[in-house]
Amino acid sequence: MSAFSTTIQLIYVAAASCFVLGLHLMNNPATARRGNQVSTAGMVAAVVATLALIIHSGAITVTGWIVMAAGALVGAGVGLYSARTVQMTAMPQLVSVFNAVGGGAAALVGIHDYMSLADAGRGVPGSITVTTLLDVIIGAVTFSGSIIAAGKLQGLITSAPVTFPGSRAVNLLLAAVTLAGCGYLIATPSLPGLLVVIVAALAFGVSMVMPIGGADMPVVISLLNAFTGTAVAMAGFVIGNWALIIAGALVGASGGILTKLMADAMNRSIGNIIVGGFGTGDTSMAVLPGAGAGVRAIEADDAAIQLAYASKVIIVPGYGLAAAQAQHAVAELADLLESRGVEVSYAIHPVAGRMPGHMNVLLAEANVPYPQLKEMDEINPEFSRTDVALVIGANDVTNPAARRPGTAISGMPILDVDHAKSIIVIKRSMGHGYAGIDNELYANPKTSMYFADAKAALAGLTGAVKTLVG
Ligand code: TAP
Repeated sequence: MSAFSTTIQLIYVAAASCFVLGLHLMNNPATARRGNQVSTAGMVAAVVATLALIIHSGAITVTGWIVMAAGALVGAGVGLYSARTVQMTAMPQLVSVFNAVGGGAAALVGIHDYMSLADAGRGVPGSITVTTLLDVIIGAVTFSGSIIAAGKLQGLITSAPVTFPGSRAVNLLLAAVTLAGCGYLIATPSLPGLLVVIVAALAFGVSMVMPIGGADMPVVISLLNAFTGTAVAMAGFVIGNWALIIAGALVGASGGILTKLMADAMNRSIGNIIVGGFGTGDTSMAVLPGAGAGVRAIEADDAAIQLAYASKVIIVPGYGLAAAQAQHAVAELADLLESRGVEVSYAIHPVAGRMPGHMNVLLAEANVPYPQLKEMDEINPEFSRTDVALVIGANDVTNPAARRPGTAISGMPILDVDHAKSIIVIKRSMGHGYAGIDNELYANPKTSMYFADAKAALAGLTGAVKTLVG
């Protein structure tokens, strides 16, 4: 091996070490930003090393350089703009689009390599065919599946499960066509055969995600993220690039672990997602603001009395808190209550909000002390010893309907807020959450509804508590 290629390989090893260290630093909110910087430095080093490799090989034409520079400029520009301007609440859609782009790019690398080998007429070695097929299939499924997921999250496609009689059979048929295409290609390399596999894989991505609805989307996004990493790793095998293999494997493995954790937390099976969706159930229509039998509405003063004279309060944040950007307002109220000797903690459901860790990020932004954030398993036994559960813009993650079969969220573990002595729910109306079903908690005799925007309600509550206690 020449000194040049040894240097390149060493840079790749250094880049891979940065990725691993970066991931490790992301374990903790306090070091997560540093983790991002370390990983970025690793990626910059890997890109520079790859450019040096290309220049050294002399295998690229002037047109090639122009195309590459234009692609990099447009890609980096769009990426930078969208990442800087995206609303926190639209982050899952953005992640989904990034997954699509990553998976699609990985598939294109495989397709291009295969076409070059086939064009050269030297035949395609079996080992290349296998890695190319894995790359192309996983990349194509990720591409089309992620586009559908982003459309559902953005509301461009219905977020309810879309199924039809025989949809599972169609999924199995598409999987069979893809596998048969693979077998054919391994035996007889051919471009039309590759095209059949690509089309079947794209169709499979669509039919895999369409039947998934409401509350289960987070698991799918995480799964597609793991697929992106795996496709990228396969692209690395195809073109013999270690940095791609390692970076892809890290994304694939960490995405896989996250998917398993989320699926377990939702009481779902990953196998079910792949062969035809889950989480179908009733999808009743939205109800009118303030309507609902047996629902008790209160104002800031009533809620303030309950909170000010409680000894233990658990705050349950949800998507509505993020939508209202009320993280600072809730931290201020919690500080005020604590200064009066009330014990305050936050109950964090694994899929509260719209992306993994959404509530943690949001509350960290408002400098809520990390030890006050309690995960579901840790906090659930606490509710029965709690005077007031203050639910702010959270809906599905508190819905007792999950405990019985036949609903869109059946089987999903929930925060046991109904075990608290008293429950105050802040939201604007009786509108549904992401899963699109009524919340039985609101008709509970222990529940009081404070109908308002979360930020305004919290400001009102803080003011009312201050007035109350002088
Ligand atoms: P949701 O069940 O979606 O409920 C949020 C509630 O917030 C709504 O019912 C809405 O009611 C209320 N709201 C909206 N804007 C508000 C505002 N400005 N002020 C006050 N309230 C407001 O939220 P959740 O309990 O956090 O559950 C999350 C859901 O999203 C789950 O179904 C989950 O599976 C899904 N999901 C999660 C993720 C991840 S990874 N976390 C990703 C995709 C989907 P009103 O309209 O009446 O105000």
